[in-house]
Amino acid sequence: MPRISYVNGRYIRHEEAVVHIEDRGYQFADGIYEVCLVIDGRYWDMEGHLARLQRSLDELRMAAPMDGGSLKVVMDELVRRNRLRNALVYIQVTRGVAPRNHPFPDGYVEPALVMTTRRFDINGSDAQAEKGVNVITRPDIRWRRVDIKTVSLLPNALAKQDAKEAGAAEAWLIRDGHVTEGTSSNAWIVDADGVLVTHPKTNDILGGITRETTIACAEELQIKVEERPFTLSEARQAKEAFISSATNLVMPVVQIDDAKVGSGAPGPVTARLREAYKSRARRAAS
Ligand code: PDD
Repeated sequence: MPRISYVNGRYIRHEEAVVHIEDRGYQFADGIYEVCLVIDGRYWDMEGHLARLQRSLDELRMAAPMDGGSLKVVMDELVRRNRLRNALVYIQVTRGVAPRNHPFPDGYVEPALVMTTRRFDINGSDAQAEKGVNVITRPDIRWRRVDIKTVSLLPNALAKQDAKEAGAAEAWLIRDGHVTEGTSSNAWIVDADGVLVTHPKTNDILGGITRETTIACAEELQIKVEERPFTLSEARQAKEAFISSATNLVMPVVQIDDAKVGSGAPGPVTARLREAYKSRARRAAS
């Protein structure tokens, strides 16, 4: 069965899916994206992802290609055509096609909408969570509006490549001695008192949708949460650490650079949060 992608109104074979060479996403990274998780045919945290997509568009004064309901119809159809039950759906919107010129194009230009989907291995993710992952650290050299989910991801890609070469799953980014987040996930620690700590939702992190749901889960489990910057040395002394994202859910971190986190095995608070996240997301799935 061929893989199908969606490009500007058409469902086409993935290998034939193309965009224009003067798409502003391609030339200026003038575009935004979302990644949504589908489990057992239902979306996890869908409302949050669609709300953030709209926020990203608004922040960049970019037109929406269609309303949220219509986007959902396209997502459903794409997943259906690819016959997937467990999937990641990638949605990208750019300011569209115009002769290369830095300011926005004059007049109305149709935003470009692309969607792809691929299988998500939930069992593989659960197996990984039993072992945990390693992270390395790198300077956070990104711009100051990483709260907008833009496709401008070169610093993220470079740091993630370093992680890959070091045999790690993620790179935690350090700004002014503090861990902001991972290259494609939010960063968390559990301190000596059992308090959950994660960077506050400022312009220096992407406000993760999984992060929001995880905070709600922690409250439900009566685990204290502090949204404040934490230092790398705090992280290295933490009892537990983890990352969160649509692609990782809640994933234990067992090593930061060359230092083991706690005992070097996934911790109990992280395990409870992963389970709570899964059941909460499943309950609310749409
Ligand atoms: N990344 N921080 C960054 C920089 C991210 O790119 C992501 C998501 C997150 C977590 O956001 P959420 O919980 O809403 O997935 C935090 C996606 C998965 C990606 O780029 O593939």
